[in-house]
Amino acid sequence: MKESIKWVRNTMSKTDSVPPMALMTEEAVKKAWNFHRSFPCYQVTPLINLPHLAQRLGIRALYLKDESYRFNLHAFKVLGGSYAMAQFIAQKLGQDISALPYEVLISDAIKKKLGDITFYTATDGNHGRGVAWAANTLRQKSVVYMPAGSARARLQNILKEGAAAQVTDLNYDEAVCFAHEQASKDPQGIIVQDTAWEGYEEIPGWIMQGYGTMSYEVHQELTRYGVSPTHIFVQAGVGSLAGSVQGYFAQAYAAQPPVVTVVEAAAADCLYRSARENNLVQVAGKLQTIMAGLACGKANTISWPILKQHSACFVSAPDWVAAKGMRVLGAPLRGDRPVISGESGAVTTGLLAAIGEHDAYRDLREILGLQRDSVVVVFSTEGDTDPERYRSILWDGAWSSV
Ligand SMILES: Cc1ncc(COP(=O)(O)O)c(C=O)c1O
Repeated sequence: MKESIKWVRNTMSKTDSVPPMALMTEEAVKKAWNFHRSFPCYQVTPLINLPHLAQRLGIRALYLKDESYRFNLHAFKVLGGSYAMAQFIAQKLGQDISALPYEVLISDAIKKKLGDITFYTATDGNHGRGVAWAANTLRQKSVVYMPAGSARARLQNILKEGAAAQVTDLNYDEAVCFAHEQASKDPQGIIVQDTAWEGYEEIPGWIMQGYGTMSYEVHQELTRYGVSPTHIFVQAGVGSLAGSVQGYFAQAYAAQPPVVTVVEAAAADCLYRSARENNLVQVAGKLQTIMAGLACGKANTISWPILKQHSACFVSAPDWVAAKGMRVLGAPLRGDRPVISGESGAVTTGLLAAIGEHDAYRDLREILGLQRDSVVVVFSTEGDTDPERYRSILWDGAWSSV
């Protein structure tokens, strides 16, 4: 018996002004995109059209943004950490980020002006890898703490970037507090965390803008194709990514904003529960899920107001949904291109597939208004960042029914 997918429609009270929306204006996001474009490894990641899957699901089109190609790091996360670190440096030097493209940022002159900095963070894997990579590129140090149970392959990838990294016995939210404490004790330390809390908002704001590069690329490409999305499905851990995507697209298509669904792992569904209770609530405990990137029990406080104001629906998805999405994408219908999508990357496709196939989810389909003329965008936010588990799911059918 499969555990059910749960959902709640957003009926939370709305306010007229949501200041965090200013974070995600097209102008702010274009700045981040311009910064990322200056990297020699920059390439627009593919926006893959999956016409056969769309037809099977009874919608007009399905576009998937494939972030497994991002900077050879196989996840979108580096966009946030690298941009926040560059903004931090720009602020320290009293310059605008536009004066600090990659070439300048990595120069001897900048290194000399900055001296030594140690960037601290906590991570399930992808964010820490991005921070470690960016620190390494800047010839600075990084210290990375991972939650209990983190995959060996993910730790190894962070160590390879020269970080001092370790797996702790804490859950993600506790590891964030620990990283914060350690950074505060280090005179050269600065925490680059991909979530906000009261009093810590500037860096996570930059991180959300950095993720905007991905939305900006999607927007540009859809505009070239002459299509507008009617629906977006985006996954959430702390919700920085979801707030970034929601904030950007609500403004980019202000006349007819897409219906946005936020999808979380059932074991760490703090946004879903908050929407249900109309109040920010936290999920504690081990947060055990195969969706390591989504195993966060505490919402980003600057992203939540954006989601609360604009998102249509919050979904709590058991692990089988992610595993299904991985298989649907990895073994596609004839004529569709295969996509290597990891656990946190594939859950939105898994949800769409479940909605399309099972009568039990007809209500959700109706609430969202998914129809024959719907144009859906999903973000596959990572590739096979844990290759062992990827194969156990694709080849051995693991997590098909739990
Ligand atoms: C692959 C992947 N997708 C999605 C997310 C969710 O992002 P957020 O924590 O901003 O909600 C993460 C977070 O680490 C991730 O690694």
